[in-house]
Amino acid sequence: LENGLARTPPLGWMPFERFRCVTDCVKFPRDCISESLFMRTADLLVSEGYSAVGYEYLIIDDCWMERQRHEITKELMPDRERFPRGLNFLSDYIHNKGLKFGLYHDIGERTCMHFGPGANGYYALDAKTFANWNVDYVKLDGCFIKNINLDIAYPAFGRELNKTGRPMVYSCSWPYYQKHPNYELIKKHCNLWRFADDIRDAFDSVGKTMYNYYKQQKNLTKHAGPGHWNDPDMLVLGNYRLSYDASRLQLAIWAIIAAPLIMTNDLQTVRPAIKTLLQNRAIIEVDQDPLGIPGRCVYIAGSFQIWVRPVMPFNNIGAHSYAVAFVNIGNYEPCPLCPQTYEVVLKRLGFENDLGYKVIDLFGSMEDLGLFKPKDKFITRVNPSGVTFFKFTSVDMY
Ligand code: DGJ
Repeated sequence: LENGLARTPPLGWMPFERFRCVTDCVKFPRDCISESLFMRTADLLVSEGYSAVGYEYLIIDDCWMERQRHEITKELMPDRERFPRGLNFLSDYIHNKGLKFGLYHDIGERTCMHFGPGANGYYALDAKTFANWNVDYVKLDGCFIKNINLDIAYPAFGRELNKTGRPMVYSCSWPYYQKHPNYELIKKHCNLWRFADDIRDAFDSVGKTMYNYYKQQKNLTKHAGPGHWNDPDMLVLGNYRLSYDASRLQLAIWAIIAAPLIMTNDLQTVRPAIKTLLQNRAIIEVDQDPLGIPGRCVYIAGSFQIWVRPVMPFNNIGAHSYAVAFVNIGNYEPCPLCPQTYEVVLKRLGFENDLGYKVIDLFGSMEDLGLFKPKDKFITRVNPSGVTFFKFTSVDMY
């Protein structure tokens, strides 16, 4: 969508995978979907250094609404017990921290958790209400859509957002609810779109999303670029079930495919090592690369995958630099759970610059691993359910 927004994939935080639809704040005061969760997270995004590296959008997911619209005005209302001071208060709080405010809605009859009313019949009113709350990012889900044609509904809601005059990133779940999505149309109307199942806090879920992307990558890579991105769903790093290696893996691949980096975790309890990963500037830089060319899986065999993304800088003979992720999915016989050694001649990855590439380890201390030419063999050892991640910077004439 050419609305001037999301020129690079957005970074931020969203509660859904971690906090789901917890609404009992008496029993679960720390975990319920409430203004205090978002205020706490806004504070932590800033005080723990996340906002300084680019995490910006604080997005409320499902379960924030009153179950019915206002009786007379028909406006949406936030749950009055959990958001007692209203969404303008929360939005101001978030903006005063230098962050941006995102809000969830659904194009159909009800939200996906069957919680609040969907937008059907009220596109103009709801877009205005969102603008009045100073929303900066709208996540529009696609549940309960009987008799609704998504190819008409999503553009129509987008037009109403546009009419408000308030710039709002438009994140659409549209293709996720279709068998044969029309990405040409979707990219024209949305800044982001979900193409895969909801992510879960487990390595097999991350692997499944990667495989889903791989199967569709010819199509998906064609349509992503500045203003319009593929969204593989949230970063689950910092929760319970991803090992350190699997956490590195999710982060690296999300950066390769130019994904939004939207965390879903409790920022108060993220382990220091995972926090360091989430704040790795070199990897965020790959994700945010200004060329905006999404990467792809260029090699897959058994447990082994290689993912490559062209990134800046170009050298003066027009050769790209590359971010390269070597993945060990961890099912390689005879020892599926051992580290594996991989060797690859760079030419086979399409690296053609005869002057060579300077290589750094993006997870390391940015140490320089030396100069590699297209005919050279690159060797790396990768932990199971893990990744090694490098930047190959194209060397110049001078
Ligand atoms: C389905 C979406 O894919 C999730 O990300 C989340 O927004 C839930 N719906 C909320 O009900």
